[in-house]
Amino acid sequence: MARALRFYAVFLVLIAPGMSAFSQASVRYLADKKLFVLGSASTTYIFGVNERGELQHLYWGPHLWRDEELAAAHSPGAPIDISPTAAGQEFAGWGDGLYFEPCLKVTFPDGNRDMVLHYFGHDIAGNELTVTLKDIQRAVFVNLHYTIDPATGILRRDAVIENRTGGPIIIESAQSGTWYPPQGERYRLRYLTGKWAGEWQLNEETIHPGSRILESRTGSTGYYANPWFALDHPGDQDPEHGSVWFGALGWSGNWRIDVEETPFEQVRVTGGYNTFDFAYHLAPGESLTTPPFYAGYTASGIGGASRLLHRFERTEILPDSSGLRTRPILYNSWYATGFNVNMANQEALAREAASLGVERFVIDDGWFGERNSDRAGLGDWFVNPQKFPQGLKPLIAYVKSLGMDFGIWVEPEMVNPDSELYRKHPDWVLNFPGRPRSQGRHQLVLNLARDDVKEYTFHWLDRLVTENDIAFLKLDHNRDFSEPGWPQVAPDEQRNLWVLYTKNLYEIIDRLRQKHPKLEIETCAGGGARVDLGMLHRTDQAWVSDNTDALDRLIMQDGFTYAYTPHIMEDWVTDVPNGIDGRTVPVKFNFLAAMEGSLGIGADLNRWNTEQLTTAKRMVAYYKTIRQTVQNGSLYRLASLRNGGNFAASEYVSEDSSQIVLFAFLHSQEFGDVLPPLRLLGLDGQALYCVHRIDDTLIEQSAMLSGDYLMHHGISLRLTGDYGSTSLRFDKVSAK
Ligand code: GLA
Repeated sequence: MARALRFYAVFLVLIAPGMSAFSQASVRYLADKKLFVLGSASTTYIFGVNERGELQHLYWGPHLWRDEELAAAHSPGAPIDISPTAAGQEFAGWGDGLYFEPCLKVTFPDGNRDMVLHYFGHDIAGNELTVTLKDIQRAVFVNLHYTIDPATGILRRDAVIENRTGGPIIIESAQSGTWYPPQGERYRLRYLTGKWAGEWQLNEETIHPGSRILESRTGSTGYYANPWFALDHPGDQDPEHGSVWFGALGWSGNWRIDVEETPFEQVRVTGGYNTFDFAYHLAPGESLTTPPFYAGYTASGIGGASRLLHRFERTEILPDSSGLRTRPILYNSWYATGFNVNMANQEALAREAASLGVERFVIDDGWFGERNSDRAGLGDWFVNPQKFPQGLKPLIAYVKSLGMDFGIWVEPEMVNPDSELYRKHPDWVLNFPGRPRSQGRHQLVLNLARDDVKEYTFHWLDRLVTENDIAFLKLDHNRDFSEPGWPQVAPDEQRNLWVLYTKNLYEIIDRLRQKHPKLEIETCAGGGARVDLGMLHRTDQAWVSDNTDALDRLIMQDGFTYAYTPHIMEDWVTDVPNGIDGRTVPVKFNFLAAMEGSLGIGADLNRWNTEQLTTAKRMVAYYKTIRQTVQNGSLYRLASLRNGGNFAASEYVSEDSSQIVLFAFLHSQEFGDVLPPLRLLGLDGQALYCVHRIDDTLIEQSAMLSGDYLMHHGISLRLTGDYGSTSLRFDKVSAK
């Protein structure tokens, strides 16, 4: 009966009237050929069970529509190489002669380390496919879950490893799966790396035989690399055309993506928990779920790949309908008042912020315990009575009376040794007994893998949000792990913390959100070190970098959008000269750069003069007319400052195509050069657009411009000197 209903559900999905072809997705099993076919209107993904019982990958690319021509899986074999090496398995155990990256590596108590996974069964429920594999002898089962998103064709997969043997097993590698772009072709890899104040640097390189490892060993997503990749062909120059295979992991702890080219000209992308220092003790009857690994295909170039991901993130990853709403304009007082927060200076800033049109006021670090610098107080989450004698309520009431809602900074995973919490619970931090406890920013990491620490953390956060009218938490995490010991459990269980810490962090956030459904959260980690699809599944926006220099931000924001939607990309306008680079850019340039995503302000507004405040007010009002398009529209990256570029431009097309927003930035003019015409993308050629100017930089004087003119002739901008900038809004008036 259940199966019949499921079939009916699939049938309904396929024929529901009014549905565009684009919204169709299907998951099918072709029993005669033992093939699994997952498809959307734009893409198809196929694997099958071969004669040896292995789950063999067969196809991933543009949509295929004729089942009749699909062939069953056959183990290719080779004169010398053993089959599993040559056959691209969807999820290979390490055993039976596998010489490339496995998805599962296990040690049994008797010393056996052989794991050969064969097909055991499957189940299809709507858009979800579960294929069960089992070791050829021992009761280790793996359930591979696949779903496909109808709108974007993006696949999600994870693996649940079940120990049904009578003894514990140690898992040394647990990956979510391996992705295979077509064999026999050369590929270019794009990936993101960075460091504090320099996150989101885009790298491109041709893949050669061997492995390129992207990973984090820091305990969280990390600055050094981000769990996203994209593959295309090395010569492709057009960002809007050509095949791209891309993917991202949803995991905020140690992760790893291994991009490997075999001597058989097969690229394999295997991702999941980082194998470094990994040894997960799985007791009998227990299971371990790997992180979700998402991936998609497009024929519309790297620009199209980003747009698919952005859409998927807004509709399928971000909590509830967060990705469909728009983000409020926020003010944050960190750069203005630092740790020296008090009732009077926060009220003064709130007043100025409200007068500019800001919608959310956020008080940052320094409001609690003895937190007068970064040396003390972290962990003591009670309001500092000298700074706020009546608690937070009077400030919140004042902020609300100005028409804004209220947000607050927290860093729940950390503790300063100079704190009441640490004096009471020195055993709560990650440590190896008798070894030094290395400090970063004068703080230690609480071991969230411990259930008592998890419960304590959830309860104080819950109390803070319950007792105060708090709309928003800025959730920070300012140092990486060191000495990752967990002395309270047996030595062979200690390394489970690499998984349990992050799972418990997720649980805390999930419970908090469940209890406070209106609460919004920003993911922040000393800048942008914790942005990934796991974190974004439970937060509403992301802090990109502590570096708010507008020029650096343009490069970082450009990199960020390869993987993540502008919807969540939080940027603030701060004071100049900038605290990191010492650079001074005009207020307009600063604002327009911050408008490429979700706009915020972090300047000391009490020091701003009338002219600056007037520009700020105008910019905030302008942003309100375009933010729906910027945050929820389609992004076209037109030009970048990366690699020494002198000009940057980004374009956003609203979901219904009725509004286009353009931002353009000149670093510095040289040799009297005039900018060549800038051609827009993705417009309706036959439509007329009404031009809205914020200044006089557009040379075309016509009040209307056609889509064809904008796309084919291009517009001329008069940006001169250093840090010239403009934004244009085009509102669609009519079709010809
Ligand atoms: C981190 C964040 C900053 C700020 C400080 C406060 O560095 O990234 O935005 O909140 O912590 O200590």
